[in-house]
This record gives sequence, C-alpha cells and structure tokens, in this order.
Amino acid sequence: MLEIVDLTVAYGPVVALERVSFTVAEGSITSVLGANGAGKTTLVRTISGLVRPRSGSIRFNQKEISRLAPEVIARLGIGHVPEGRGVLAEMTVEENLRLGGLWRDQNDRRASLAEAYELFRPLAERRHLPAFTLSGGERQMLSIARALSARPRVLLLDEPSLGLASLVLTRIMARIKELVRERKLTVVLIEQNARSALSVADDAVVLSLGRVVAHDQARRLASEEGLRHAYLGF
Ligand SMILES: Nc1ncnc2c1ncn2[C@@H]1O[C@H](COP(=O)(O)OP(=O)(O)OP(=O)(O)O)[C@@H](O)[C@H]1O
Ligand SMILES: [Mg+2]
Repeated sequence: MLEIVDLTVAYGPVVALERVSFTVAEGSITSVLGANGAGKTTLVRTISGLVRPRSGSIRFNQKEISRLAPEVIARLGIGHVPEGRGVLAEMTVEENLRLGGLWRDQNDRRASLAEAYELFRPLAERRHLPAFTLSGGERQMLSIARALSARPRVLLLDEPSLGLASLVLTRIMARIKELVRERKLTVVLIEQNARSALSVADDAVVLSLGRVVAHDQARRLASEEGLRHAYLGF
C-alpha cells in the first residue's frame, strides 16, 4: 500500500534520512523505532508532504505522492497525528474535529463526531471549549480523534502515547486494531517505548542516523537480543 524507495531527506547540510526503503502492507501496523534524532518524524512528515525529499520516491497504491501538496495527500487518505499535539488552540474541540472530515458528506461527518465522542469521553464533555483549555493528554486525544474522523486509509501516528495515561492509550490502540481488522486501515506507528510498540505491530523498521538498520516482523525483532540492546534499549 505504501512503498518507500531510496528516500533521502536533508535539512540544508543535515541529512536526516539516507536511502530509506521499505514497504507497508495494507491492513498492517508497522512500527518505526529508533533513538532521538534517528529520522522518525522526518519520515512521516515526508510521507505527509510537509517535507520535500531530496531524492527517492513514495508510492501510495502505486501512485507517486512525494511531490504532492500536503492537502492533496491528506485527501488521498493519509492521516497524520503529528508529534506534539498539533491542534488549533483557538478553535473549540468540535471545530477541530469537524476540520478532520471537512470534505466528507454530512451524515459521514455526524457519524464520525459521535464515534470520536464515544471513544474519548473527556472530549464530549468539553466539545464547546477552545482547545487551549485542554490538558496535554486531552489535546493528544483530540489530535488522534481528528485524524480518525477523516477516515484515513493510512494513519501515521507520531508518538501517540505522549502524555496519555496507559489506560487511555490501551483503549486507543484497541480501537485502532479494530479499524485495522474491520476497515483494513494501515498504520505507521512511531513510539519511544519499543517494547510496547513491538507488541502491537505486525512489522517494524529500525532507524539509526537516518538509515534503516532492520526491517522485519515485529516478533522476530523483539527476539533479537543484539539488535534490542544496540538500538532499542531493552
Ligand atoms: N526543521 C529542521 N531543520 C534542521 N534539522 C532538522 C529539522 N527537523 C529535524 N532536523 C534534524 O534531523 C534529524 C532527524 O530528526 P527527527 O525529528 O526526524 O528525529 P526523530 O527520530 O523523530 O527524533 P525524536 O525521537 O527525538 O522525535 C535530527 O538530527 C534533527 O536535528
Ligand atoms: Mg520525532
């Protein structure tokens, strides 16, 4: 579904990704792991069109997307939960959620609002409050709910666990797994906690200094002691 081939991305002289290649199968969860600065955020920002690659290609359902505008990529069905809760602070919870499904028909939008409020009770109670009044964890919920309300085919999650209580995170991941099963949602999951990421993912890619150092089934990587010690810290 998502094919990344020889992707190189640089910020001026800083090469953040170097000839990164891997594929993500439809209806699977692929975890992207690696130390701070390894290039994980750069990878998902490039897939979303927020960063332009220096070279290489990104194909989504065989279509080259690496030079398209971010809003075009979003409409094609790639949703992105950015690192650090990218919600619009001055808008209310509900306005933020409506933005997610802006181009969908009214019934669809109503259904996904109801679904978001069911999954995230604190958002329902605060639907008419501006997002800046939310706690950090509630903002993270809003960011995830907004991405889901666009009903993406591919969901890019950049450290969704940040600031979330483990019970909330468990519920979100359970819901995401359901969507993977029921709607063949495809997920790219960036996580600091490699152990928990490997337990939910089907496959995993390990980045180090902008290069892919491992790509395999998650359970196989979890059992490779050398790799775990060298790159994953457990
Ligand atoms: N806008 C930018 N301008 C210049 N350098 C950048 C920019 N964004 C990232 N970098 C550099 O690119 C490299 C990769 O950064 P990136 O944010 O992709 O890492 P990461 O794996 O997401 O790290 P973390 O786990 O800390 O979130 C780092 O060396 C970083 O300093
Ligand atoms: Mg990052």
